[in-house]
Amino acid sequence: MSIEDKIKGVISRFQTSDSSRKNGPTTYLGQTPDIFKAYETKNPDDLPIPQCVQFEITNFCTTGCRMCFRWTWLKQRDYDETAELTVDRQIELFKELADLGVKTFLWTGGEPVSHPEFVRLIEAAHGFGVKVGVLSNGVGITPEIADAMIQYGSWVRISQDDVQTDFEKKNVRRVLEAPSYGKNHGDIFEELDKSIGNLRKSMEKFPENDFSIGLAFTIQKNNVRSIPAMIQYAEENKIKASMKLAHGEGGKYLCSKEDLDWIKNTLLTDEKLVSSEYSNLNYLKDFFLKMLDEKDIIEGMPTRKYYSENNITCFTTELFSLIDAFGRTYVCCHLYDDNGTFKSDQREKYNIGDVTNNSFESVWRSNAYQKIRQDLAPIDVCNMHCSNCTRHWVPNTVLTSLHREVFTPLKDELGLEEAVKQYEEAVRGLSTSTPVWH
Ligand SMILES: C[S@@+](CC[C@H](N)C(=O)[O-])C[C@H]1O[C@@H](n2cnc3c(N)ncnc32)[C@H](O)[C@@H]1O
Ligand code: SF4
Ligand code: SF4
Repeated sequence: MSIEDKIKGVISRFQTSDSSRKNGPTTYLGQTPDIFKAYETKNPDDLPIPQCVQFEITNFCTTGCRMCFRWTWLKQRDYDETAELTVDRQIELFKELADLGVKTFLWTGGEPVSHPEFVRLIEAAHGFGVKVGVLSNGVGITPEIADAMIQYGSWVRISQDDVQTDFEKKNVRRVLEAPSYGKNHGDIFEELDKSIGNLRKSMEKFPENDFSIGLAFTIQKNNVRSIPAMIQYAEENKIKASMKLAHGEGGKYLCSKEDLDWIKNTLLTDEKLVSSEYSNLNYLKDFFLKMLDEKDIIEGMPTRKYYSENNITCFTTELFSLIDAFGRTYVCCHLYDDNGTFKSDQREKYNIGDVTNNSFESVWRSNAYQKIRQDLAPIDVCNMHCSNCTRHWVPNTVLTSLHREVFTPLKDELGLEEAVKQYEEAVRGLSTSTPVWH
């Protein structure tokens, strides 16, 4: 079998969790020859630059959510706003990353569109040639912000927790006051309608810009039975929606065993819903619920047993990086404890370096980063906080399989240099590009 066919065989076994983000295996295949080479040499200077850098552009939040503590951070007495990166420094970092060759940014927070200089930031990133994807709660996408997103960005994915106004059930996000609109706001659904309306108008205004809107529903015990209504909403509005189960050890919001049984036996047996092009239920059915342990999912640590049993290496450490609003750098949002409280021992533990005054590249190629890469090859969930890796477990599995089944036998047969050369040639014809990974 040719190397190309072996690679095709591996990637055909997996599916991306979220088709609206267009982040399937062929989109990161192009990085793998350099990544596998650097894995063997253990020399950080051999690493490619990351495929995507996530920026937490602000810690400020505009909705209070049950499964995430970010909205409480700024209310803490010892929260120091002066320690945040300045806009000028953020833009300098964008330039450094663009010059290094980083092509895509993912912006989150906090609520990214609440950043008072959102328009300036996204225009700057675009000016450096970087594609930007934004994760937003959908509150406050004004006509001005919508115009900037459509002109300078690639997509927005709007997180919601339900589609029905049932505040009794407390399953929906509570809209909070913000400096830009004070108390003058509607409920979450009114705000969402305004934001989507503004985005649609801007998309009509700039039809040549290939921009997409997606929806992300974070499934919890209070909204799980609304999944059919969520899919109906997505179909009616022609917006692709992805469903992901909330995680977090001991979270009171987690789905119970009965909820998972209902998902498996009722929801996922409805072929019409599962095959809807506007939802990712097939990913939940064929991957998430099939490959991950049910008890772990119920306990909020979905990848615990999967990682401890499958000897997976975390290649996210070579593909991706996260910079928070204070300039601290992390391997991923899970080690960052991005849904956790302001005080987090975990977040302190995994801080690799600070880009407030240092270049990103000096952190990316540092010994500290390299040590984490080695500690995660393979992932040891007993020693690392990798039990809720819902975002990266599929790419980590794909890359581990490519490394184990295709690259390593080739290297054993031909030696490192020739293996990299032949593997690189095979990858070339299979790679595709994506607006923003991941
Ligand atoms: C941390 S938010 C940041 C961006 C923005 N504020 C938003 O809400 O989309 C990013 C994503 O994390 C999701 N999230 C929050 N808490 C979560 C949890 N405990 N488990 C899984 N996803 C969670 C949110 O629903 C959202 O889709
Ligand atoms: S999910 Fe988003 S909006 Fe909600 S608290 Fe977390 S960061 Fe803020
Ligand atoms: S949580 Fe996932 S992506 Fe993050 S370090 Fe662990 S294995 Fe890697």
